[in-house]
Amino acid sequence: MSISNLFRKKPISKILQQGGDGEHSGLNKVLTVKDLTFFGIAAILGAGSFSSLGSAVFNGGPGVVFLFIIVAIACAFTAFCYSEFASRIPVAGSAYTYAYSSFGELFAWIIGWALIMEYSIGNIYVAYSWSDYFTSLLQQCGVDFPAYLSTSYMEASKAFHGNVQGEALTAWTTASEIGGLKIILDLPALLINLIITYLVYRGVKESKNFSNLMVWIKMFVVGLIIIVGGILIFKNDLFANWTPDNSVGIPSFMPNGFSGVMMAVSGVFFAYIGFDAVSVMAEESKNPQRDLPRGMIYSLVICTIVYILLTLVLTGAANYKAFEGIGDPLAFIFEKENFDLPWMHFLVAICAVVAMTSVMLVFQMGQPRIWMTMSRDGLMPKRFSKIHAKFKTPSYSTLVTGLVVGVPIIFTDKTFVLDFTSIGTLFAFVLVCGGVLLIPRREKEAGKFHLPYVNAKFVFPALVAVSIFFIVTFLPGFFSETFDFSGDKIAKNLPMVVFLVLISVMMVLSFTKNLSLIPLLGLVSCCYLLTGMTVSNWMWFGVWLTIGLIFYFIYGYKNSKLN
Ligand code: ALA
Repeated sequence: MSISNLFRKKPISKILQQGGDGEHSGLNKVLTVKDLTFFGIAAILGAGSFSSLGSAVFNGGPGVVFLFIIVAIACAFTAFCYSEFASRIPVAGSAYTYAYSSFGELFAWIIGWALIMEYSIGNIYVAYSWSDYFTSLLQQCGVDFPAYLSTSYMEASKAFHGNVQGEALTAWTTASEIGGLKIILDLPALLINLIITYLVYRGVKESKNFSNLMVWIKMFVVGLIIIVGGILIFKNDLFANWTPDNSVGIPSFMPNGFSGVMMAVSGVFFAYIGFDAVSVMAEESKNPQRDLPRGMIYSLVICTIVYILLTLVLTGAANYKAFEGIGDPLAFIFEKENFDLPWMHFLVAICAVVAMTSVMLVFQMGQPRIWMTMSRDGLMPKRFSKIHAKFKTPSYSTLVTGLVVGVPIIFTDKTFVLDFTSIGTLFAFVLVCGGVLLIPRREKEAGKFHLPYVNAKFVFPALVAVSIFFIVTFLPGFFSETFDFSGDKIAKNLPMVVFLVLISVMMVLSFTKNLSLIPLLGLVSCCYLLTGMTVSNWMWFGVWLTIGLIFYFIYGYKNSKLN
């Protein structure tokens, strides 16, 4: 085995030849910029806003709005980088393909492997949230779904051993046993996965129409939540909820400080995942070089505005502390103890089910297309790139995706998959931004997206200096706390220390190498968000990567087409 082979790069010309315009194109080219924007919204607006927003608000209070803005900025920089790549390499495969041309094969494999966390593991979280809203919808229609058939085993077991009251504990205490094993599983989550897999298998055209319809519905209801909620906040004079008392009784927009806000990083970041899914639709897009970047950026902007407004409505409707353990926060604000609007409560529950169905659909379409590309490169077995003769979809990969999402639904729970997804996706984003920093600049071409070049030489160090000034002024204990390595603080502070070292290195590189500012800021902001991940998140991620590397050395390295 030669080390240089690990970093062999796939030439862009070869990628293009094999992709959309070349020999392997068997997919229907039907998607327009409107469809791609809709795909983006379909992928972005889902469980993050309908489900994990509750705990985000509980941790950070109204100030979580700042985190939405920070994450949006990080995602916007990353979207520009994705757009630059998508415009140069308009083929399916997303960040994986981009890494193959800039970092080489080993990194491409790693990124492809990390993307499984975004596309497949992320869908497990969405499926669980879908099930929560679906069963609550049934309940509002008078149908009681047994708790032991709508809760994951792991969640019920944690509730029992931690003595946490609620639905999960009911699942544990009411479940029947076979041979000492409690029969607890999330049936609706499994069912929705089955339905989505079938739809994706049948083809992109049907799925596209279905997805567009669902986006219209969810945008309408989200708009209604913002308008009705906003009017009620003003009518009932609830402004005080935006500045609740902090621990020492002082009214504050961030009652738990900035660290409370940062605790919500996984959930808030999860809410943004999806804009990049647009890039995997390259080969089904009519004019990918022009439309992919537009689709990504339009959908990101629309969703950012929606999130900011939703967070303000939520935190205006009730005191942030009321959101403890609330898994359906947008429906919750219309319950009896809050605005007391049963028709809105019902509408929100329906909308949530619709929104999350469309999120699942987009991700479940994305994963097989990534595998299809990896298989074309010889890094995955050939059958992963098999296109169905009638439906024109990567049928085998679609079925495997259904299994990869479905089987862990039986074994995992929401918290675990949320952290796992966020860390893997952020990691992929970092590599995409790093990739744009590495590829040579090119001339602008008419009709194609072109990432503007701004020299970071002086701007980046100046931005760092301004940030240090603000930190020293407004967070005086920040540096002494970060470099406090006493007791168990090493593990807690290590990610931030590594981040500060990275900033120093990037300052030197931006000065000496005239780096491009936008990808640099994308890389740095995504790395900053990674500092919000716990050591145990990193540990699980490490295990996942190790398994991936074993696969690569056993199969991909030997069968690579670049051999
Ligand atoms: N952003 C997607 C969601 O919130 C993953 O469901």
